[in-house]
Amino acid sequence: MKRAIVSDIHANLEALEAVLRDIETQGVDQIYCLGDIIGYGPNPLECIDRVMDFQLTILGNHDQGAVYDPEGFSSGAERAIFWTRQQLENGGKDEANLRRLNFLCELQRTHREDGRLFVHGSARSPLNEYVFPEDIYNTRKIEKIFGYIERVCFQGHTHVPGVFTDDGRFFSPKDLSGRYVLGQGKTMINVGSVGQPRDLDPRSCYVILDDEVIFFRRVEYPLDETIEKIYAVPELDNFLGDRLREGR
Ligand SMILES: [Fe+2]
Repeated sequence: MKRAIVSDIHANLEALEAVLRDIETQGVDQIYCLGDIIGYGPNPLECIDRVMDFQLTILGNHDQGAVYDPEGFSSGAERAIFWTRQQLENGGKDEANLRRLNFLCELQRTHREDGRLFVHGSARSPLNEYVFPEDIYNTRKIEKIFGYIERVCFQGHTHVPGVFTDDGRFFSPKDLSGRYVLGQGKTMINVGSVGQPRDLDPRSCYVILDDEVIFFRRVEYPLDETIEKIYAVPELDNFLGDRLREGR
């Protein structure tokens, strides 16, 4: 079984389409998404439509914020969420939008299979907790989170890809030359972000899971097109476009 795991698309259609084209070349059986389909980017509806075809999608905090009341977001993120909600509610009884809203409302917070856990944020707090590379220096936090993990946890949310091992180390995809073999110890895998990478590499990031082997893939996409679209929407802060160029 070969599976692609994507996360944090954030309504970036150009990035998502480039990643889907790359996935097509990889002989993948299934696609899983770890949440944040929407928020920040200019094409929420189109991105939801594509993700609805995936085999599994987990609820992200921005997906939840767009459907319910957003809490704990920066003002720029919150404005983007309200704009996203408007797109989802345009026309009110529009059937396609009702289908999209129902899809978002029914997303699950976690998924477990074969000792593997799939969440948006962390095993301890699936929707909201960030696990950043520098958290390895917060031994208590990392130990607690590993306490909730049977063997492997796949997560997103920080937009920073890499591997956390239960001896308190973090490896970036570069450290690993893009490939990691799951061992006996517990592991957290951050699959990175399709639509808003923040590890100073502007290319889209996702993961292929082939049995016990993980491949981090980077994909270029026409980010100038996305940036132009963000600039054209007054409710989307220009910074949301600018950051795509630097991957931060
Ligand atoms: Fe996100």
